[in-house]
Order: sequence, then structure tokens, then C-alpha cells
Amino acid sequence: MCGIVGAVGHEQCSEVILDALKRLEYRGYDSSGIVTINDGAIALKRAVGKLANLDKALRASPLIGDVGIGHTRWATHGGVSTENAHPHVAADRVAIVHNGIIENHRTIRRRLEAVGHKFFSDTDSEVLAHLFVEALDAGLDPAAATRRVLAEIDGAYAFAMMSIDHPDMLIVARNASPLALGIGDAACYIGSDAIALSHLTRKVVYLEDHDYALVRADGVSVYQADGTPVNREAVMVAASPGLVDKGGYRHYMEKEIHEQPDAIAHSLAAMTDESGRLTAKMSDDELRSINGIVMVAAGTSHYATQIARYWIEALAGVPVACEVASEYHYRQPVTAPYDTAIAISQSGESLDTMMAMRHAAKSGLKTIGLVNVADSTIAREADTVLPTRAGPEIGVASTKAFTAQLTVLLCFAVALARAKGQIDIARAETIHAEIQGLPRLVGKALGLFDAIRPVAHQLSQAKSALYLGRGALYPLALEGALKLKELSYIHAEGFASGEMKHGPIALIEDGLPVVALLAADTVMTKASSNLREASARGGKIILLCEARATDEVDYASAVVTVPDVDPLLAPILLAIPAQILAYLTAVEKGTDVDQPRNLAKSVTVE
Ligand code: F6R
Repeated sequence: MCGIVGAVGHEQCSEVILDALKRLEYRGYDSSGIVTINDGAIALKRAVGKLANLDKALRASPLIGDVGIGHTRWATHGGVSTENAHPHVAADRVAIVHNGIIENHRTIRRRLEAVGHKFFSDTDSEVLAHLFVEALDAGLDPAAATRRVLAEIDGAYAFAMMSIDHPDMLIVARNASPLALGIGDAACYIGSDAIALSHLTRKVVYLEDHDYALVRADGVSVYQADGTPVNREAVMVAASPGLVDKGGYRHYMEKEIHEQPDAIAHSLAAMTDESGRLTAKMSDDELRSINGIVMVAAGTSHYATQIARYWIEALAGVPVACEVASEYHYRQPVTAPYDTAIAISQSGESLDTMMAMRHAAKSGLKTIGLVNVADSTIAREADTVLPTRAGPEIGVASTKAFTAQLTVLLCFAVALARAKGQIDIARAETIHAEIQGLPRLVGKALGLFDAIRPVAHQLSQAKSALYLGRGALYPLALEGALKLKELSYIHAEGFASGEMKHGPIALIEDGLPVVALLAADTVMTKASSNLREASARGGKIILLCEARATDEVDYASAVVTVPDVDPLLAPILLAIPAQILAYLTAVEKGTDVDQPRNLAKSVTVE
């Protein structure tokens, strides 16, 4: 999703801004731009497509100046074009970059056009530049101008503004969209996240909702919406590799698939206490007081919650509801049966998930944030944080964060079950030992690329595919289908295999690829009968299963096996061939694996 960066007090301002934008590339974008103030005038460069295009334009005619802002845009209002790319400039005096949506932009635009403001783009964001021109024209100082602008706009935003009237500062504000301020030695910076600034500084101030700040070379002044100065403490963020490279792999996604043994091992370590016991980062008393859990998340993270529901209910006997975050708070849900909400998010910034967590907190639920980005908004707002330690995930399609989430959720289920006396120490230790063996088994499953390649070749010819699973493998079928469609653009649907005969079986025709997930669990025989029904109607079964489940199916056109594992862990292990299949199919089709069309890594709009 849109990325914002800025620098004030740095001589090679446009160069460091371009570097910072590259660090935000993983969020997804379709155009970009940078603006600086040079000799008292605004200097602007924008380009459609990849940052390489902006880079080329900058090489042809560099932007000079020691104050500037930059942006990668993921189109929401207005198509992908140079005019709609940020920064937006008004009256040759004010430039802005914005992430989010200004919901009342039409009303504001009509009002401003009526008094002579000329707009150049179709974006909602451009109104910000004109509102600042209007406020500065009225003689307001930067802080008062900002308050006036903030009072008029509705919606979610993080924005930065600079003006030739005040060339020594950037003005920034946030509401529901992330924004970090970086404090350097003789310069200050802004960025959508700390990764963007990791080559410049580790000292970061996070704005809270409704804050605005004046950012100068020698420091930042932060204010609440009413103008009261507020001290938001600077934190030292963990050293980040910043611009993570592909480590010799063809795509970030391929690299991240291979990083899963480490991601799982590190996440398990984070969920193990000093005495070597699985922990949920809460006391046993706190765990015992949990009587109902609602889990809110989006996309792949939502599918992780659906798998975890099987574990938490079966092991701990605690009821669980899994909610699509974007639906949850608007539904005005009855929260009474639940006392705890778990918000699950790789980025910790998905706006839908954040809003759902806030809704739960407002309704009196205790909140747990399960996130991969330690200093994200969800982590900062949740009562308790359960960390995944997958490391930065750059590929837009989630892989290692998903298996790390599952690892943490299984550890949580075990710790909860033990605290509640639902399982004994021996059972908890057996599961713990199984999880400890998981990185090794995942490592073995990573050897499946060659076996899956011909299957992916066949699948890449298909127009449509079904994914089937039963029990905890049903949500994995949904996740497998999501991976295939988002990466290869092949239409794919996931179903509970037992549900096929209630309607979806009508879709099966000769040769339709049916990716079947099977483990040696309590529902294996029933799942296998469901698959036979699909096969009998012409479905071409691609079986992803545990080695010991292969004998159950003698009608598959392709069989890919992972090592045998405790049935509890099968969804984690079988995720690996599902990811590899989607990845290799996309490679066969030649799609943009790391940044599929229309997608963004961190979805910070509703
Ligand atoms: C799919 C994918 C998305 C994300 C979703 C939530 O491969 O990555 O569906 O899972 O946008 O993102 P987070 O987990 O950052 O809240």
C-alpha cells in the first residue's frame, strides 16, 4: 500500500528518499514520485510503474535540495497515471504525499474549486495540498494551518506536507495509517515504517492517531489535534537488514519459503519461557480467566485463525469465533460470549484488523496482538503481544509469516490448555517436542520443488482449480486456493471436502484440477471418500499428503508427500507443498510473483 518517506536537513535528500522508497517497495505500488525544494522553488519528478522508472528520470535530471518528500502510490481514487502519482503540488507552493483515504474529498474539492483552486489529478489526496495553500494564505503559521486542515478532513491518513513558505520543515499527521519519524544526527526523516529508515537511523518516534508534528533537521515537535504539545518517546528499533536482498533466489517469495525452518524455530523460541515451557506471555491465572476467544484477521492471517480454532477448541476446550476483520466491527457483533480478542496480522498495520481489534477493546474484551512487525500499531495497542519471529516478509503473498503464525497459535493453544488443566504435562511436552521437530520436517518438505515442478506445469494450463480439505486442512485448502489465485491469476476455490456434495461438485468436469490435502487424522477416510467422488466425475486429483496417507488414494493423477507428522501439525507441514505449487505455477505463467497485480503488502485502507 502507499509508502511515504521524507527528509529534512540531508544534502542528498532525493537520493536517500529514493533509497527509502525502495525499502517500501514490498508494500505494493503502481507509481512513485519525489519532490524537493531547490532555490526556493518546488522541484518534482514522478513516474508510472516501477521505481526504476523514477530512478531513470532522476538520473536524467537530478533533484537538488535538502528537504523533500517521496511516495509510492497504490491507486485507490483515480487510475494509474503520472498526474495521479504523488507528490501533489498546489499553487507551486505546497507539496503533499498521503496514504489512506480522505472520505469527504468531494465536498472539499467542490468548495475549493468554487473559490478558484485548480486541481490536476483525480485523487482524493490532492485536496490536502489545496487546503494547506488556503490556510497559509489566511496567514496561519504551520501548526495552526495543520489544525485547520485536520479539522476539515475525515478518513484515514498519514500525510506529509512541505511548502516553500517554510522550507526548513516537513509537517506530518496521522490517523489510522502508520507513520514513523526518524531522528538522525543532523537531519530528521519520516517513513511509513521503520524499515524505510533503517539505512538512516534506528531512533524512531511513532505518532499516535490524531497527532501532528513539525519535523525539522534538529528534531521533531509533536502535538495532539487540539495543539497541545505531547512527548512521544523515541525508541531504538531493532537493527533491521533494511533493504533485504533475494539471497541468490529468483524471488523474495522463493527465499521466504526457504526461510520457514528458521521462522518456525525463532517463533517457537519466542513462545518458550526460561524453564523451557511453552508460554502464552501471560500468567496461568490470566490464561485461566479466558473463557471465549474471538480472532480477527484478514486474508492469509484469517485462514491461520481458522486452523487455530481446531487446536484451541480441541486442546483447551475454549470456544473460538473467527471473524473476517473488515466485516467484524460494522456488523455490531454481540461480543458478550467472548472475553478475549486476538488480532492476527503479519504487518500489524492492516487497517481492517486494527479497527476490529479496537472495536473489541471498546466492547471490553482483553486484546492480544499476534504480529510479525514488533513495533507495529497493533503491537503497540494490544494488551498483550504474541510475536512471530519470521523476519521481514517482502513477497506480497504471505508464506513464512503464515507458518510462523500457526506455530505461535499452536503454542498458545497448548499453554492455554495446560493452564486450564485440559491437558497434562506429558501431553503438553509431547506436542512441544513435535513442534521442535517441525523446522527439520519443513526443511525436508523444501526438497519438493523438483517433484512439484511438472505438476505446476500442468496446473499452469488450467483456467480454474479446486482445493479440498477436511478438518483443520479445510482452512488450508482456502489458503492454498488464495495463494494460487493471487500469484498465477488462475481462478481457484477452496471447499470443505464434505461440503462438495451439497453443491460445488456440480463444478467438476473432465480434467478439472482438484488439489487435495490429506493427513492421517481422524477424518482421513471420510476425506478420501469425498475425493473419490470428485475423481469419479472427472476431477484430476493432485494429492498433497503425508507419506502414510498415500495408500488411501489410488486414483490421484499426481501425489506429493511430506514426512509423517502428529496430525495436529499436519496443516503447518502441508502448507509447504501448497505454497511451492502456487509459486511454481506462477513462475510457469510468468506473472509478477513478488508483487502480483492489484495487490499491496500492507493494506492500510478500508
Ligand atoms: C495473502 C496475503 C494477504 C494478507 C492480508 C493480511 O497471501 O498475504 O491476504 O494475509 O492482507 O495482512 P496482515 O497479516 O499483514 O494483516
